[in-house]
Amino acid sequence: HLDVDPAAYDVEHGEGGHMWREMQDQSAAAERVLRGRLDERFGTAHLGGLNMDARETRAIRRVKILGCGSAYYVGQMGASLIEELARIPADAEAASEFRYRDPVIEPDTLYVAVSQSGETIDTLLAVQEVRRKGGRVVGLVNVVGSAIAREVDGGIYLHAGPEVAVASTKALTTMFLAFSLLALQLGRVRDLSISDGKRIVAALQALPDQVEEVMSLSDSLVEVAEQLAAADSLFFVGRVRGFPVAREGAQKFKEITYRHAEAYQTSELKHGPLALISAAVPTVAIVPQDELTDRNVGALHEIAARGGPLVVVTHPGVDLGDVPCRRFDVPRSERELDPILLTLPLQLLAYHAASHLGLDVDKPRNLAKSVTVE
Ligand code: AGP
Repeated sequence: HLDVDPAAYDVEHGEGGHMWREMQDQSAAAERVLRGRLDERFGTAHLGGLNMDARETRAIRRVKILGCGSAYYVGQMGASLIEELARIPADAEAASEFRYRDPVIEPDTLYVAVSQSGETIDTLLAVQEVRRKGGRVVGLVNVVGSAIAREVDGGIYLHAGPEVAVASTKALTTMFLAFSLLALQLGRVRDLSISDGKRIVAALQALPDQVEEVMSLSDSLVEVAEQLAAADSLFFVGRVRGFPVAREGAQKFKEITYRHAEAYQTSELKHGPLALISAAVPTVAIVPQDELTDRNVGALHEIAARGGPLVVVTHPGVDLGDVPCRRFDVPRSERELDPILLTLPLQLLAYHAASHLGLDVDKPRNLAKSVTVE
């Protein structure tokens, strides 16, 4: 499974530092993680590295995803994908908390450790906790031969290529796609129909070009990013599939701009944080075209009524009514895969805001690329 060819990609192109180049490499990284793993004929994925046969795969009753920081937030996106496509109960937990609650390890649960570096100590210790108690863990890991890659029972290499900037971008995109492949394979050995499988395969094949399309929004996001950079405090809000997108957007923003950025479920605003909304506190809202669009638009009205500036990341054709906002449309995928395309403009907003503030985007203060000590 160690089929990484460093010569197959070149991250040393372009201008603008590591984070910029790594964001620009995302379309190619998406192609790399999908390459050779999609089966158009049977509408499924082939993930030989998982080291699980069809009988073992069918026996899984629950999936628990473990990761830290942004890897945890992508894990939440992955849990939704697995529940939607495979109909297996799935959730994500911060690996840094997991071992401290003496977790019950179930033999019919598949544990999934997700890590770019493969060296994050909290994720590694969570893996060891599962294995010590007899559980099965697979890894979604970028760095080949890293500590987590060596410790797990099997896994999926991300093939994102080297990621140097502290703020993770292309590794997260490949994590999301690896979760899509895993969810597809788990789904197809269970009840996911071949037509639904083919629908997801076709959407995955289209994603690298769509990633490129979203990255081309970059220039149009500069002005609004500069306005957001002027705020001391911001909200990022979303619902269901959009909530981990909001969490990841807030993480990226606070990490490199040093602004207070708080993620909330849009539905929870009225239970408290609406009290903070004012002209000085902008909100970045994730409003996909889905079963919750109308409710999301209702919440935008409540924010606007309190004078809160709004930036909305949405889909073409979504009717936002007369809500005053800056709107950015990303292309639609299949609804299960939408979160990754909705995430990309938030990377660009954080990048442009931090650059405008003259900050060191690649090496933010107080942070290390991988946290290898407790
Ligand atoms: C992401 O932008 C962060 N720098 C951070 O949250 C990171 O995702 C986390 O520390 C996990 O790192 P890993 O993927 O290498 O395990």
